[in-house]
Amino acid sequence: MPPEPTSSGSSRPAPALTFANEAPAHAAEIEALLNRAFGPGRFAKSSERVREFADFAPEMSFVALEAGRVIGTVRMWRAAVGEQPVAFFGPIAVEEGDRRHGLGMMLVERACAAARAAGEVAVVLVGDIPYFGRAGFSVAPGVAMPGPVDPNRVLSLRFRDVPLDGAVRPRA
Ligand SMILES: CC(C)(COP(=O)(O)OP(=O)(O)OC[C@H]1O[C@@H](n2cnc3c(N)ncnc32)[C@H](O)[C@@H]1OP(=O)(O)O)[C@@H](O)C(=O)NCCC(=O)NCCS
Repeated sequence: MPPEPTSSGSSRPAPALTFANEAPAHAAEIEALLNRAFGPGRFAKSSERVREFADFAPEMSFVALEAGRVIGTVRMWRAAVGEQPVAFFGPIAVEEGDRRHGLGMMLVERACAAARAAGEVAVVLVGDIPYFGRAGFSVAPGVAMPGPVDPNRVLSLRFRDVPLDGAVRPRA
């Protein structure tokens, strides 16, 4: 079968998409992608306050690679809501030219499945319900973020029926 024409009009085989756990070798490409995706306001987000004290979880964090290049990233952290240990999700970003093909949702689902497999009982994030609702997230009214945030954007996905009440804080 001839290769699919690309959007640039040229004809070449589509490079294979693969996923891998985030490794130190990906760090520079991820930083560049996050800077492009979020711009200079990136570190002002309340989720960044959580990332300052939470433990990074590389086994639940993934990159999407196309021909060896990072085109998508999702990160996960170990934190707690009150006394309840939770996985804290984010950031997620997909290279602009590769969006709207389902890659973002693949990364969401992969990171959440890895959290569940690691024994986490809930994933918490700050994000838009029209997007994350597709992966089963719902508004988590009992969860208090450090710093100002629209409470309708504080979301959780629970794998067990645990109460999520209190501040997001370091895991004991
Ligand atoms: C959010 C993001 C990762 C989605 O990546 P993606 O590969 O395009 O995701 P998918 O292909 O799975 O889903 C795309 C769909 O989600 C929609 N969508 C994207 N962001 C959305 C949002 N914040 N709220 C509602 N819908 C959103 C798109 O419009 C698209 O809709 P369609 O299916 O009707 O065309 C990507 O847009 C991105 O990197 N954005 C910049 C960084 C960012 O905002 N991260 C999320 C912070 S909460």
